[in-house]
Amino acid sequence: MIAKWPDPTCNSHTLYERALKVMPGGVTRIQPWQSPFPDYAASAAGAYISDVDGARILDFTNCFSAMIHGHGHPEIVAAVGAQLARGSTGLNTPTESEILLAEHLCQRIPGIELIRFCNSGSEAVMHAIKAARAHTGRPTIAKIEGAYHGAYDYAEVSLDSTPENWGNEPSSTAYATGTPQSVLADVVALPFNRPQDAARILRTNAAKLAGVLLDVLPANVGCIPATREFLDVVISTARDIGALIILDEVVSLRLNYHGAQALFAVDPDLTVAAKIIGGGFPVGAVGGKAAVMAVFDHRHGKPLVPQGGTFTANPVTMTAGLAAMRLLTHEAHDHIDRLGERARTGISQIFARHGVAGQVTGMGSIFKIHMHTRPIVDHRSHYASQAERNRLDYFQMELLKRGFLISAKGYGFTSTPMTAADIDGFVSAVDEVVATLCQSSAA
Ligand SMILES: Cc1ncc(COP(=O)(O)O)c(C=O)c1O
Repeated sequence: MIAKWPDPTCNSHTLYERALKVMPGGVTRIQPWQSPFPDYAASAAGAYISDVDGARILDFTNCFSAMIHGHGHPEIVAAVGAQLARGSTGLNTPTESEILLAEHLCQRIPGIELIRFCNSGSEAVMHAIKAARAHTGRPTIAKIEGAYHGAYDYAEVSLDSTPENWGNEPSSTAYATGTPQSVLADVVALPFNRPQDAARILRTNAAKLAGVLLDVLPANVGCIPATREFLDVVISTARDIGALIILDEVVSLRLNYHGAQALFAVDPDLTVAAKIIGGGFPVGAVGGKAAVMAVFDHRHGKPLVPQGGTFTANPVTMTAGLAAMRLLTHEAHDHIDRLGERARTGISQIFARHGVAGQVTGMGSIFKIHMHTRPIVDHRSHYASQAERNRLDYFQMELLKRGFLISAKGYGFTSTPMTAADIDGFVSAVDEVVATLCQSSAA
């Protein structure tokens, strides 16, 4: 054991006690919450975080996949330092930095002919939905039941449908209490990887559908890939009924140099990007076909979708993003993909060897650990029982005590500074924890 966390005498506990007095629940976002209290970071470098008690932790969360080069990459730090000296966010005029990043992404991602930046993936999803509505003149979007697309009301619908409310056909359920009924009425939920059912639902709602919001590897739906048939049927149906394809690549962009759209041969009308394109700074972007992106063009009067944002395209984010994307070569992609495969293979072997109910899904540099063995095909088969959640909590906490951070939901992302030895150390720790799981009451 190397981490003092979660001992009540550790520095993280003291910080958490202070945080509770000034923030609801003691945190400012839900994702890094961790029972019984967060392990606070003091600093980070490369693939490792140092916590406030001096433990060195291999970081597989990578800020929910954003830090693809780990922390403090020297080239990104140098580029940002130089930009800070020239001006940071207070510039109210455009800078060349936004053109440079836009040029890079337009050349790199096949579905992006034109691009607009913003400050988060949630914001980018919102702009993409607004663009689809404006382009088609229709109000409604379809999305996969269980898929996460950020904090826009419409994108949150059916995010955490439960057996009590999901119905036979996916029903539109509220995520946040108080979500207006009108929001639910303008979102249609689709069953993942059930092409004929999805097509039928799309056709039933054809007249009002502006777009279909897709993720080819929706993490919250189990981190399993969309099947070829599902993509083909959903996309051709959408085209048939005049709805746009909005591909959420906020996470999946890391699956291929040209984005998951190249890997899965999808030609979206709109692409949403964020996370890795900001080099560690807040970012989002919506890009797409010029004819659709024209909704943002103001040159002939008020645009169909007026889009702004105080910190949008600030030169620090643009500069960091360009440096990060330039570092993300084909070789860098191969490296993180190999490490991801090594982790998935090692973890699968451990579950099999110990005869413990567990499995790992994911692809490329992404993995997700589950505490059951039923085949995962959609949100419903991915939906974990309370006992499975308890076992995952135990598993994740025991890994953190040993110096390995995966997300509370079992996600991990490899980063370019990681080595095969890092992965092997992680797999050994998984082995140890799974062995304790066999003996503990959590099993
Ligand atoms: C697939 C997907 N879409 C959208 C978002 C929202 O991005 P952000 O957290 O930058 O708002 C996320 C965040 O994790 C995501 O995973």
